[in-house]
Amino acid sequence: MKAWLLKDFGLNNLELGDVPVPVPQQGELLVRVGAVSLNFRDKAIVDGIYEPHKVPKPLIPVSDAVGEVVAVGAGVTRFQVGDRVNSHLYSHWLDGAPAPDEPEYCLGSPLPGGLAEYMILHENGAVKAPAGMSDEEASTLPIAALTAWYSLMDVGNLQPAQTVLVQGTGGVSIFAVQIAVAQGARVIATSSSDANLDKIKALGVSDGVNYRTHPDWEQKVLELTGGKGVDVTIDVAGGDGLNKSVLATKAAGVIAQVGFLTGQTAQLQLMPVIFRQTTIRGIAVAPRTSFDRMNPFLDRHGIKPVIDKVYAFQDTVQAYEHLARGAFGKVVIKVAD
Ligand SMILES: NC(=O)c1ccc[n+]([C@@H]2O[C@H](COP(=O)([O-])OP(=O)(O)OC[C@H]3O[C@@H](n4cnc5c(N)ncnc54)[C@H](OP(=O)(O)O)[C@@H]3O)[C@@H](O)[C@H]2O)c1
Repeated sequence: MKAWLLKDFGLNNLELGDVPVPVPQQGELLVRVGAVSLNFRDKAIVDGIYEPHKVPKPLIPVSDAVGEVVAVGAGVTRFQVGDRVNSHLYSHWLDGAPAPDEPEYCLGSPLPGGLAEYMILHENGAVKAPAGMSDEEASTLPIAALTAWYSLMDVGNLQPAQTVLVQGTGGVSIFAVQIAVAQGARVIATSSSDANLDKIKALGVSDGVNYRTHPDWEQKVLELTGGKGVDVTIDVAGGDGLNKSVLATKAAGVIAQVGFLTGQTAQLQLMPVIFRQTTIRGIAVAPRTSFDRMNPFLDRHGIKPVIDKVYAFQDTVQAYEHLARGAFGKVVIKVAD
């Protein structure tokens, strides 16, 4: 089969090659990949800044995929040939609290990913893809949508009429907007671009703050919430900006610490965290059961993923370059014709 192979760090070392079609073992599905979507994680893996010591070489990258089951290994009961399934990044984390070794079983590093004509998924780590979505749309769900869903609904326990803060207009943040709005919440969004703020307002965001022209964006968020702060913040920026998220979040509120766009370390001012009694909760996507609960919600509310651009399989390098430039929503690669 054709597969993209990361032979060493750097996008120039991502090459299209030929490898044998894998054979499904006990409990496994062989999936003909329809489409994959890119996440910041995929770019960080190629750049060698995401757990580089764990990246096997060569690696078939990219965790987020959708496709059709074309063969099953012995003992498979959850799916059959012909079913359309999504991958699930934390392939061993099914429910409840995560085990300490969940990252060892992530797709797209260290396990092989979906940037190939076929991939293997264990039946327990696969999810029925939403019938109402195309392959391109469904490919965007496993990390970006599920992270937003888990942060808001499972961790944040978001209630109608509460207020959410999202940062920027990337994949996680746009899904968070769509899910929070469907839940009846108010959403405040930050962005580096007024044009992006206009676009995200069309999805139901009530107020936008440009974090470039307003470096004190947390003060704007406080103004917009009567000095109280938001109920739930999804922090994708990371770095020292976490201090601003603490100030923008209400007393006893929740920060879902999702991302590290500006840095993987933060110098945290402890007194505001103590006085505001903030919960800062690290997020590593979600267990599979959360994915199972999310899909009917997306269906019920008619939520359609926002896709910036779909690339052909042979244009994978351009898709990575697009992600690096910044995208409004998701960058998708169509694998099967
Ligand atoms: N822990 C998890 O489970 C998990 C899951 C998914 C993603 N993540 C992490 O979350 C982050 C975002 O992921 P993504 O896939 O949504 O990324 P993405 O689609 O590449 O989105 C990036 C967007 O974030 C905005 N941004 C960049 N720097 C910012 C800053 N300093 N403040 C506010 N917004 C900023 C920009 O939007 P504007 O151009 O509008 O400013 C940019 O377009 C990444 O670090 C990723 O690794 C973690």
